[in-house]
Parts: sequence; C-alpha cells; structure tokens
Amino acid sequence: MKQAKKLYLETFGCQMNVSDSEKIVTLMKGIGYAQTADASHADLVLLNTCSIRAKAEQKVYGHLGKFKAMKAGKPGLIIGVGGCVAQQEGEKLLKKAPFVNLVFGTHNLHLLQEMVSDAEGGKRSSETDFLDDEKRFDLFPLSEAEGGVTRFVTVMQGCDNFCAYCIVPHVRGREISRSAAKVVEEVTALAAAGVTEVTLLGQNVNSYGSRNPDEPDFPELLKLVAQIDGIERIRFTTSHPKDMSQRLIDCFAEIPKLAPHIHLPAQSGSDAVLERMNRGYSRAEYLAKVAALKAACPTIQFTGDIIVGFPGEDEAAFQDTLALMEEVEYADLFSFIYSARPGTKAADYADATAHAEKQGRLERLQALQKKATLARNESFVGSVQQVLIEGLSTSGESLFGRTGGNRGIIMDGDPSLAGRVLDVRITEGLQTILKGEILHD
Ligand code: SAH
Ligand code: SF4
Ligand code: F3S
Repeated sequence: MKQAKKLYLETFGCQMNVSDSEKIVTLMKGIGYAQTADASHADLVLLNTCSIRAKAEQKVYGHLGKFKAMKAGKPGLIIGVGGCVAQQEGEKLLKKAPFVNLVFGTHNLHLLQEMVSDAEGGKRSSETDFLDDEKRFDLFPLSEAEGGVTRFVTVMQGCDNFCAYCIVPHVRGREISRSAAKVVEEVTALAAAGVTEVTLLGQNVNSYGSRNPDEPDFPELLKLVAQIDGIERIRFTTSHPKDMSQRLIDCFAEIPKLAPHIHLPAQSGSDAVLERMNRGYSRAEYLAKVAALKAACPTIQFTGDIIVGFPGEDEAAFQDTLALMEEVEYADLFSFIYSARPGTKAADYADATAHAEKQGRLERLQALQKKATLARNESFVGSVQQVLIEGLSTSGESLFGRTGGNRGIIMDGDPSLAGRVLDVRITEGLQTILKGEILHD
C-alpha cells in the first residue's frame, strides 16, 4: 500500500480554531494526508494561528522560524499558515516568509485541498477573501461523528460587536448563524456516536439567529438540542452580557440538561472603561444579569474574562473591577493585559499607564482570584455533585470528570464509566482541581 503523506498541524488560540483544525484534518485526509504528532515526519506543516494579543501573534512567528530551519534540510516540505494571523496578514505573509507555501484565511477552508495540491506542484498562494454569503457553513465538512464524551458544535461564527480592543470581527468577519436544523442534525449524529455532552460554540452565542426572525433564537435552539436523546448535558460559550436576555436566563431554571455554569466576560468593572471599550452595558446592568442568573439557578458557577490596563484605566477604575469580581464571586477568571491590535479603534487611544503598573494590577487581580478559587473549591467539600466522567486523568491513575459547574475533578473508578453522569461526593478542594468519590454507578 502507498504510504500516506504526513500532516503536522499546530493549533493556537480559541476553541474556534480547535474546531477549524478538526475540519482541516478531515479535509487533508481527503487528499491523502494522515496526521502525525511528530513534526520531523511531516510532508505538510500547517499552523492554525491566533492574533488576539500581540504575544499570540509573536508565538506564530517563533514557530515559523522553527519550520524554516526544518525546511532547509527538507526542501519538499510544504508550510501553510491559516487562521487569524493569516487573515490579518494575507499576501504580506508570503512576502515576509518566502519559505511559506500557502496562506489561508478564516473563511477559506473550502479552498484548502486545492491550495495544498497546487503547493505540491510548486505554486504559492494566498486566499483571504471573506465570503459574504450565508452558505459559509455548507462549504465545510460536518465534524466527524467519531464519538468521545464531550464535543463542541459550532452554532454561529464571526462577530458584529466591534469591542474597541478586539481583532475578532476584523479576522473572523460578520456574524452568521447556522440553521437550527443543521445544528440538530449534527448533535443527533454525535449522540448516536455516544457523545453525552455538547458545548454550543460561537463568539457571541446569545445573538444566535438574531438576523433571521424565521429561525429559532438561542433559547429556542437550546430547547431543541435538549430534546435529543443521549445528550445529557448542554453547555454554551461565549456569552455577551448585553445579549443575555431574561428568556435565556430562565433556561437555566427550565432546562434540566443545561449545566449550571456560565462564562460571562465582564472585561472591566468601571463604567467609563466599559464605555470606551464599546461593550454596550454598564457595571450595574452586568451585575443585574448576574443576580438574575443566581436567582434562576442558585448553584450556577461564573467564569469570565477581564482586560487590565485598557487605555484610560486608572487605579480607581481598576478598584471597580476588583470590587465587581468580589460581588460576582467567579469560580475562575481569565485575565489579560491589554494589547493594542492593528486596525482596532482602541489602537488609536492614548495610553498613559506604564507597562509595569499594568503588570502590577494583573498580579493583584490574579492573586485575589486565586484565593477566591481555592476558597470556592474548598467550599464544595462534603457536597454531592453530578459529574460527567470524561475518561482517564492525564496521569492515567484516576478518572477525570467535570461537575455541572465545570470544575475539574479526579476520582477512583473504572474507565468504562466514561460518558456517565454520576453522583460524586467531594472529598478535597485544591487550587486547580477537586477530588471526590463516586457514590454509586
Ligand atoms: N467572543 C468572546 C471573546 C473572544 S476573545 C467574548 O466576547 O467574550 C477572548 C478574550 O480575550 C476576551 O474576552 C478578552 O478578555 C481578551 N481580549 C480580546 N482582545 C484583547 C486585547 N486586544 N488585549 C487583551 N485581551 C484581549
Ligand atoms: Fe471580540 Fe467583543 Fe466580539 Fe467578543 S464580542 S469577539 S470581545 S468584538
Ligand atoms: Fe484568536 Fe482568532 Fe480565536 S484571534 S481567540 S483564534 S477567533
């Protein structure tokens, strides 16, 4: 048998890119490439990139340097760059990096097979046009229903919000929602393949369907997905606070399969900063939604994102963010120092705060959250949580699962329990993980 050509694929950035990478693997299989985890065996190297912060982008150039060196000893090696840096740089990347064979943007996966085949024939190409057509989804393969316990299902792509700091609308294009029928078809196929949990994915899932009044909106979509047999747990990410409607909040009380966790990025606790960020809500409005979520679902766990050091954030504004954190009581928080991105509105804002000052604020915020996370994890000790068993832990010595509130947990048990939702008593709450014992199976 002819030996398959080898694809080495590296994925940076968010879950969107992880999902696109699954599709890339399927597409490359279609033209004879099998995936390898060992770059030194590769005939084709693809980097699926992220440009959310300058550091993420620099990382890509660092990795490209590594493959440039590899290509010097293996001239036939094909190197391709996709994702958000590719979208941002386009043709420029081909000029900057003459060893790169192809550059494909975030709307161009459907052209990838042809581009790689052309590269095998020696042609260099760059495709970064946005598709203005709502058929964007139909051009991509359905994700392969190969099972697993938990899977992501893309329900919308792109973003129309233009938060002043954010590159996403620039590199992912306008918001489009997949039809509810397609989402239900994909989740049904995943359930038939043994999947227990799905996470509905989009940059702003709350505005799902808002462009098309004839289609279900997000709360209606959740109810359709909840009817699918075999799916026991539903999650979604990411939510924009301004689009978090009371109907969606009520879903946490009405849909037993909806896991009691929400990722609801606040970005800042200061009204003046939120305004300059163009977030579309005030501190009071954000906190009112948090209170309504707690009322609908008293066990709900919050996670979020915070940007520290946005232009104009002074110490008082930063204190407002710390106070907001204490009021929400996040189970966990992702926090970043603001990074100016090319072409965004905030890139032109005057920024007087020194980097060292921003670094200090980030450290203070992270220390506060670290304490809160540990205290919360300890508070679970003695409680019984419903845990979806995902399989073996990374050490291979115990089982790993997640509580409804999305806390990771390890416990003893048989690997054949993977996919089951079981009652687990929490015995220990550590900084990054819970420990527990299965009560019965
Ligand atoms: N669509 C998601 C966020 C995607 S980006 C949402 O709206 O919540 C993930 C996180 O990266 C953002 O929530 C924000 O906190 C952070 N981020 C985005 N742009 C950034 C920038 N220019 N500098 C620092 N952090 C940024
Ligand atoms: Fe970026 Fe804002 Fe869109 Fe999220 S909602 S992707 S932060 S522009
Ligand atoms: Fe990064 Fe693009 Fe996601 S910029 S965070 S990979 S949408």
